[in-house]
Amino acid sequence: MTLPGAPFVGWRGDALHLEDCDLQALAREHGTPLYAYSRSAMRSALAAYEQALAGRPHLVCYAMKANSSLAVLQTFAQAGAGFDIVSGGELARVLAVGVEGSRIVFSGVGKTRAEMRRALQAGVRCFNIESEPELRVLAEVARDLGVRAPVSLRVNPDVDAGTHPYISTGLRDNKFGIAHERALAVYREAASLPSLQVVGIDCHIGSQITETSPYLDALDRVLDLVEALARDGIALQHLDVGGGLGITYRDEQPPAAGDLVRQVLQRLDARGHGALELLLEPGRSLVGNAGVLLTEVLYLKPGAEAGTAGQGKNFCIVDAAMNDLMRPAMYEAWMGIVPCRRRHEPAATWDVVGPVCESGDWLGRDRELAVQPGDVLAVLSAGAYGMTMASNYNTRGRAAEVMVEGDRQWLIREREDVKSLFAGERLID
Ligand code: LLP
Repeated sequence: MTLPGAPFVGWRGDALHLEDCDLQALAREHGTPLYAYSRSAMRSALAAYEQALAGRPHLVCYAMKANSSLAVLQTFAQAGAGFDIVSGGELARVLAVGVEGSRIVFSGVGKTRAEMRRALQAGVRCFNIESEPELRVLAEVARDLGVRAPVSLRVNPDVDAGTHPYISTGLRDNKFGIAHERALAVYREAASLPSLQVVGIDCHIGSQITETSPYLDALDRVLDLVEALARDGIALQHLDVGGGLGITYRDEQPPAAGDLVRQVLQRLDARGHGALELLLEPGRSLVGNAGVLLTEVLYLKPGAEAGTAGQGKNFCIVDAAMNDLMRPAMYEAWMGIVPCRRRHEPAATWDVVGPVCESGDWLGRDRELAVQPGDVLAVLSAGAYGMTMASNYNTRGRAAEVMVEGDRQWLIREREDVKSLFAGERLID
């Protein structure tokens, strides 16, 4: 029996498995906190996009901010994906797994000159430009290197993606992109600069989007611009609709990737732009439900009976914390929590919290669980924005990671050694 949204996580009797691997056994072997990912889940998520795009000019650029571990990048590189990067660090990672520059698009509002230089030297396919000053700086950097920088403007279409305010990006008041009304003038400037080559247009309206309509609204706004540009003699080669497709954490029902892509293609055809190459930048929908975070229960701290002295809630204290998985603390995100061994005992209501010294350090609130100290819990849907957002707060080394496929498993990242956390520090005289 599989779990909602995560077809590669399921019960075999009373033991929770990821593909054919017993999660508790993985946790005992490698220790906790431990991220575990399913390679088949990642491949099948990418295949859903690829199948819907078959026969059309396209490039699915995995937004590697969602999970940038080398073995994850390798999995997508081998499957033929491109990559969306937002920093020189991400560029270095993706080059380290042998990806060609021509499969990389570079997004982000604050690219530095040094990052631009390295990306030009790597021959990236496109810079998604987010402001007029950035455009001019890139033109200078490219000119000094004696190359032409391929550019696409990230247009802010001013549509509401209907998601959490921190992860909504396509509204007029968000810091991202170039306002729709300014775009034409900025394109004209880009086209006039000899060290730039206009190649595309781009938008990204937010993340964890569970409806198709905001995509189609944004697409219409972007296509209006494509047409206005054509009238101006500026022809584009590609249109990038960004990422943002949501996943099921609890009961969300986002469109399937294939359905979303088909609707986007239909709209492109209907408006006569079927020849444009379509780029997408999915992150979460490729990796989110491929991963779990395993954590061991350290202590149970039951609350006091109502009307008596003591804390009011039941706390289940685990060894993973907000530094390992930031999403609940940062967005009040709900993520499923399931024991890796089913106990046939009465459940109680627990707040699952970590050891970090903040009341905001929780992974789940008011969860019905039958648990005992020493049990291993799996936090579900943790493949995206889990490890990549991990920090060393409280001088906690970051978790180890394993990849599984069938009954095989690989340790893909060692647990971070505490000594390495202060290795670059110096005492003073
Ligand atoms: N392209 C651009 C330009 C982006 O900014 C993002 C995500 C993506 C693609 C990929 O979006 P996705 O398909 O993963 O939704 N930390 C937050 C999510 C932040 C998303 C930032 N940008 C979370 O944990 O929910």
